[in-house]
Amino acid sequence: MGIVLKSPSDVAGMRVAGRLASEVLDLLTPHVKPGITTLELDKIAHDHIVHVQGGVPATLGYQPPGYPPYPASLCASVNHQVCHGIPNDKPLKNGDIVNIDVTVIKDGWHGDTSRMFIVGEGSIAARRLCQVTYEAMWKGIVKVRPGARLGDIGHAIQTFAEHHSYSVVREFCGHGVGAKFHEEPQVLHYGRPGTLEELVPGMIFTIEPMINAGRRDIREMPDGWTIVTRDRSLSAQWEHTVLVTETGYEVLTLSAGSPAPPAFVGVPAVPAVAAA
Ligand code: MF3
Ligand code: CO
Ligand code: CO
Repeated sequence: MGIVLKSPSDVAGMRVAGRLASEVLDLLTPHVKPGITTLELDKIAHDHIVHVQGGVPATLGYQPPGYPPYPASLCASVNHQVCHGIPNDKPLKNGDIVNIDVTVIKDGWHGDTSRMFIVGEGSIAARRLCQVTYEAMWKGIVKVRPGARLGDIGHAIQTFAEHHSYSVVREFCGHGVGAKFHEEPQVLHYGRPGTLEELVPGMIFTIEPMINAGRRDIREMPDGWTIVTRDRSLSAQWEHTVLVTETGYEVLTLSAGSPAPPAFVGVPAVPAVAAA
């Protein structure tokens, strides 16, 4: 099958799906407070996606080969949970960190994004892990342009994370996304520059590094989904869906509540005629 390139009208559909997914995170943000449960957050997200956005939560019933059907409309991964945490009825408490990962299908197109939330007041260590992981995702995003290679993205993320003495999870990666939730290519968050697939305009994939405060080793829980760090160290993740444009990249999963990019990202180039 290979990598599916998206046409301008496909991209228009992906922009809508991406914005909707990000808007679910905006909606959840004021609710992520001590005492709320991830199951309550899941219900808020589900109702909004289905009844307000007219979309479908892609994770609900999602069943890749070898997995049980995923039972919820978002993933909520708390503290040492790396990814794919299943919402439950345990209240979040002050100091927890939680990744919330939302994928909305709208008119057949998938928008996939996640953010970290610090519940109440986080420790310095927890805040630093979340911030460095956010910057690591953007270190990968800014590599995206025609002629660059997937290995450039992975290398930028790995170098940055390891410079901060964190480790990069290897078993899960970013992915092509479009009419399917997970398609080619795989987007590794580690690697060597100048290696792997060359990027061309019209590719759309996620960049979603999982960064551990301790060792990179992970373990799957008996629920068949939840991934945790083997050493129970904290783990963080951020995710955007990104389009390769003629000149660079466009992040498709932005909305009014998206956190600002780090300072090193700079402002998008403005054509001279528009700037004059
Ligand atoms: N949204 C996740 C990703 O970024 C996938 C979650 S699949 C689920 O690829 F079934 F666990 F929800
Ligand atoms: Co994804
Ligand atoms: Co996701």
